Amino acid sequence: MKRLLEFSNLQYTYPGGQKPVLNGVSFGIPAGKKCALLGRNGCGKSTLFLHANGILQPQQGQLFWKGTPFVYKRSFLQEMTQKVGLVFQDPEHQLIASTVTEDISYGLFNRKLPLEVIREKVVGALESFGLTELADVPIHHLSLGQKRRLALAGVMVLEPELLLLDEPTAYLDRYQTKNLMRELDQIHRSGTTVLMATHDMDIAFEWAEWICVMDGGRLVFAGEPQEVLSQKELLESLHLGIPLVAEVWELLPAYLKNELGAGIPQSVEELKRRLEAKQEVASV
Ligand SMILES: Nc1ncnc2c1ncn2[C@@H]1O[C@H](COP(=O)(O)OP(=O)(O)O)[C@@H](O)[C@H]1O
Ligand SMILES: [Mg+2]
Repeated sequence: MKRLLEFSNLQYTYPGGQKPVLNGVSFGIPAGKKCALLGRNGCGKSTLFLHANGILQPQQGQLFWKGTPFVYKRSFLQEMTQKVGLVFQDPEHQLIASTVTEDISYGLFNRKLPLEVIREKVVGALESFGLTELADVPIHHLSLGQKRRLALAGVMVLEPELLLLDEPTAYLDRYQTKNLMRELDQIHRSGTTVLMATHDMDIAFEWAEWICVMDGGRLVFAGEPQEVLSQKELLESLHLGIPLVAEVWELLPAYLKNELGAGIPQSVEELKRRLEAKQEVASV
């Protein structure tokens, strides 16, 4: 599997901190996949993300972009902030300009693109993220959901190859979460590799094609969703639990599971589809 970004044995302790927050974390992000970085609160996910585009520098270990080691020099880091788009958990940490349009334009101006190109890209981004009507609205008038969309638009307008999202579903309701997942699917289909940090097993299992599990500043497991689920004891011991749909699946009688087939469904919707398909067959 081709790796886009690789973390190799990273160690990091915050200034004044007692113990390492990253404690030998190693794994690669497979190119072209929808990935989830799963781990309980405090395990080091956000700290790892801050390393991924060079905001933080590891005290030990190395990062590689397509096999090339990170160099902590201005030109390389500037390139990485474009290639690796990072959406912070709190959009307040991301949004800097005073209006929606200004904020989306900011990174493009930094890249010194011609004005015409900037204008075109901004209009495109406003449109694809449903922000056109809010173009001139001051940022402090936006709702949290709108701020999050804007933060994502501001990152995507730079056309990163890898998109990192830190707990993007925190504080979103179910409807907003579904919309976000659809947006992320669209971004993935257009060719961007996506890695989402979350402590929510349901979301990771439903959405991701590849799941990396972190605990105590290191990687403990990585694999396809079904493989991760086979590590039930590990997941319980890390307080992540198993997805709700897997718990429901366990309750079904063996004959029904056999008839519904093909392993644990990844979502309640999928379980529903399989049940409905079976009922249709039965009623013919
Ligand atoms: N700026 C900081 N200074 C000192 N300690 C921090 C800082 N940011 C995070 N930490 C500590 O690092 C640990 C890991 O945090 P974090 O990377 O945010 O984990 P996660 O995103 O998985 O919840 C926590 O114990 C947290 O208190
Ligand atoms: Mg975090």
